[in-house]
Amino acid sequence: MSKYIINGSKPLKGEVFAGGSKNSALGVLTAALMTKGVVVLRNVPDIEDVQLLLNIFESIGVKYAREDSTVALDTRGINETFVSTPDAVKMRASYYILGAFIGKYGKVSVPFPGGCAIGSRPIDQHIKGMTALGAKITEDLENGRISAECDGLHGKEIFFDCVSVGATINVMMAAVFAEGTTELVNAAKEPHIVDVANFLNYMGAKIKGAGTDVIRIEGVRSLKNRGDYTVIPDQIEVGTLMIAAAATKGDVTIKNVIPKHMETLSAKLEDMGAIVTLYDDAINVKGTDTLDAVSVKTAVYPGFPTDLQQPFSVLATIAEGTSVITETIYENRLKHLDELIKMGADVNVKGNKAYITGVEGLYGAEVSATDLRAGAALIIAGLVADGQTVVNNAQHIDRGYEKIHEKLRLVGADIEKISD
Ligand code: UD1
Repeated sequence: MSKYIINGSKPLKGEVFAGGSKNSALGVLTAALMTKGVVVLRNVPDIEDVQLLLNIFESIGVKYAREDSTVALDTRGINETFVSTPDAVKMRASYYILGAFIGKYGKVSVPFPGGCAIGSRPIDQHIKGMTALGAKITEDLENGRISAECDGLHGKEIFFDCVSVGATINVMMAAVFAEGTTELVNAAKEPHIVDVANFLNYMGAKIKGAGTDVIRIEGVRSLKNRGDYTVIPDQIEVGTLMIAAAATKGDVTIKNVIPKHMETLSAKLEDMGAIVTLYDDAINVKGTDTLDAVSVKTAVYPGFPTDLQQPFSVLATIAEGTSVITETIYENRLKHLDELIKMGADVNVKGNKAYITGVEGLYGAEVSATDLRAGAALIIAGLVADGQTVVNNAQHIDRGYEKIHEKLRLVGADIEKISD
C-alpha cells in the first residue's frame, strides 16, 4: 500500500513532458510477440501495468531489457502459450495475448483479465470475433481461464455488437494471420488502435482503416522483425495534466502531445472558461478565476473519454453552477464522487448521472482511490483543496500514471509519495 500526501491550493505553473500511452504500449508490446527477434519500443511509460505485462512475457520465455522509456524485447525464446503467472490476473490487457498468439501458435490460454473494478467488463465481443475467424474458445469458469485453439484462421466480416477498444485490438491482431480478408465493422477508433495497427503494418501486416469504424485486414503468413517503434503520447495523462492546470488556476505547458487527440477535452475546458492553446506537439492550459459549469457525457472516441470523466468531475466541483456528468461506458465509474464529497463537493448521483454543484472551494481530507482514474481525480482534488489531502490506495494510480508526483512537482505541486 502506498499513498500520496498533497498540500493543496497552489496554482501549477511551468512545463512538463507527457509519457507514452499506457493503452497503446500494452497493445504494441503484445503485438511485438507476433514476430521472432529483438524489437525495440520507445516512449513506453514506466508504469506498473507495463511491468506486469513484461513479467507475464518473461514467464513464457521472452527476454527483455528496460532503460528509461525504451524496452527491448527478445521474442526468440517464447516456449509457452499457457500463461499461468499470477501477474496476468492483476491487469486487463493480458487478454491481448489471445489475439497475438492464436494465429501464430494455434493455441493459447490466459487467466481471465483483471484491471479496474469499474463495471462488469465482459469479453463476449473478443470471443465473437475470434470464433468467427475459426478459433474454438473455451471458458473455464472454475479455474478462471480462457483458452483458444484453432487449425488455421480464416478471414471473415465481423460486426461488433458494441464498440470495444479491447475487442478491436484483440481481433485485429488475430486477423493478421488469418487467411484472406477480415473486415471489422463497428470497430473502436481510439488513437491507440491506430498506433497498434501502425506498428503491425510496420512489421508487414496489411491493415487498412484503423481510426475509422471499419477496419480491413488482409492476412499475411508472417511478420518481419523491423526493430524500432515509438509509442504515441498518452492522451489520458495529457488530459489529466490539462485538467490539473485548469483546476488550480495555473498556467501549464504539456509537451510530447498530439493535440488532435485532445480536441474534445480542449473544447470542454474552453466552454468552462479556461484558455487552451494548441501547438504542434504541445498544449498550454491557463486557468481562470471562475470556471463555468458544463455538461459532459462520455462516449467512444472522438467523444469525451470515459478515462477523463473522473478527473474532469473535479472541475465541476468548483465551477459556478450545476454540471451534469453522464457516464455511458462503465456502470461503476462514479464511485470517486463519494470521496470528493468528503472534501466538500456538492454531488447528487442518480443512476449514471452526477449532478455536481460548484462550491467555493474543496478542503483537504483522507480519501481512497477506488481505481486508476478515480485516483487521478483525487490527486487533482488534493491540488485544489485547502490544507492537506492524503490519497490512500495509490497503487491503483501507479498502474497507469508514470511518476505522477514527480511530474506534478515539476510544475510546482506540493505532493509526496509514501510507499510501504
Ligand atoms: C479500454 C481501455 C480503458 C478505457 C476503455 C474505454 C485499455 C487497456 N483500456 O478498456 O482504459 O476505459 O477502453 O475507452 O486499452 N464491452 C462488452 N463486451 C466486450 C468488450 C467490451 O460489452 O467484449 C463493453 C464494456 O463493458 C464497456 C464498453 O464495451 O462498457 C467499452 O469497453 P472496451 O472498449 O472494451 O474497454 P477496454 O478495452 O476494456
